[in-house]
Amino acid sequence: MSDRYVLAIDQGTTSTRCILFDRRATVVSVVRGEHPQSYPRPGWVEHDAARIWRDVQRLIRKALREAGIGLDQVAAIGIANQRETVVLWDRATGQPVAPAISWQDTRTEELVARLDAGFVRERTGLPPATYFSAAKIQWLLAEHDLGARAARGEVLFGTMDSWLIWNLTGGSHLTDVTNASRTMLMDLESLEWDGELLDRFAIPRAMLPEIRSSAEIYGHFEGTPIAAAIGDQQAALFGQTCFAPGEAKCTYGTGGFLLMNTGTTPVRSRHGLITTVGYRIGDEPPVFALEGSIGTAGSLVQWVRDGLDLIGTASEIETLAATVDDNGGCYIVPAFSGLFAPYWRSEARGVIVGLTSYITKGHLARAVLEATGWQTRDVVDAMNADAGLTLTSLSVDGGMTADNLLMQFVADVLQVPVVRPMVAETVSLGAAYAAGLAVGYWSDLRDLRANRHPAGRWVPAMDLEKRAAEYANWRRAVECAVLFSR
Ligand code: G3P
Repeated sequence: MSDRYVLAIDQGTTSTRCILFDRRATVVSVVRGEHPQSYPRPGWVEHDAARIWRDVQRLIRKALREAGIGLDQVAAIGIANQRETVVLWDRATGQPVAPAISWQDTRTEELVARLDAGFVRERTGLPPATYFSAAKIQWLLAEHDLGARAARGEVLFGTMDSWLIWNLTGGSHLTDVTNASRTMLMDLESLEWDGELLDRFAIPRAMLPEIRSSAEIYGHFEGTPIAAAIGDQQAALFGQTCFAPGEAKCTYGTGGFLLMNTGTTPVRSRHGLITTVGYRIGDEPPVFALEGSIGTAGSLVQWVRDGLDLIGTASEIETLAATVDDNGGCYIVPAFSGLFAPYWRSEARGVIVGLTSYITKGHLARAVLEATGWQTRDVVDAMNADAGLTLTSLSVDGGMTADNLLMQFVADVLQVPVVRPMVAETVSLGAAYAAGLAVGYWSDLRDLRANRHPAGRWVPAMDLEKRAAEYANWRRAVECAVLFSR
């Protein structure tokens, strides 16, 4: 089997990647394609699921071509995906019946405000928020009058993993337990769809996929096993080999997501975090995680590039920020999709505060990067309080970790070293690992650990008094975002 590989599909919010890994977790080929984001109204964010499926097919071929191999040399395919995003499609035609509603979309604010927060949290481990899938499904069924068809199983629901598995396998309607745990419809104890929640959201069971583990053979694509599906942030936890309770990572992509492995029993958060399934390998017991979700991180940089036209490429944010020594008194709270952890205020909106004539675009760039640092601090504080232990270092990954200024700032505001692994594509690596385990390409978790190599490290250097004063300013800015609710 030495000439065989594992293929990972990372279907993310702004782009899809296909990466081939060899047994030592070396990247053999990587290809990437961006897909458009559609913003039809303020607070609305949509994706074209049919286009995403076409991208996946094209990118699989391209990744194989670039590596000079055929699908017959691929031992297994693993899928990691943007979570919570809702796709509804017609069982008979296989076509989406409406644009997919992104996890970032806030159109369901009123539906969510009516929910019984205590009940939802107790049953699902999630605070009611527009972020999760349930209210988006409810909205689509009502808006397009699809309730009766859904009840007959003619219209199906899936998150992106389900949508891709359906297409890749030619019609298996499945999801994995990590993705199901983000829908706000799954009972966190039984790991099954919850009848009472389905009633409350008026969602027919017939439209839901079957919940499976994160690593098992779901079906085949042109003879190759589809052997893993796992939410992208859980995939990064797995790819960073955070297999022991207390191990944590933060991934900086469109948003920022800090997950800590809490072992085989779910830990309920009392400080604004989410309790979620981390992964489940075949028949083994599920492993849970506490998560601090930051809604807007890389997407703020994207907005500076595409919405404001201040930079030409995302990496220029660092160059621009480096033209000044500090933020000049300016803070940005990017509550584009409301505020996520630990605040959970879906109705909050973004603010820029502290403006004077002194502020240049360099200061704005710095405030953009610092917003990600301070949001990380907010979730780390909550994590320390919930877990009853203090994080001693933070493993990071994702596109934004290429930004040295940001990584230094994160180390400064957390007061702990920040460490980046050699393979920054840990989402894909996690999906590859899960798929490889399912087919015996790798034998066990120890095998995977051996591939872990730290590559970058940043240590705290900020003056503590300055840090405290800056953090107090950040918290005041957050209050402004809450005050400026929709
Ligand atoms: O929960 C949303 C998350 O899965 C999106 O991840 O990497 O596409 O920003 P990413």
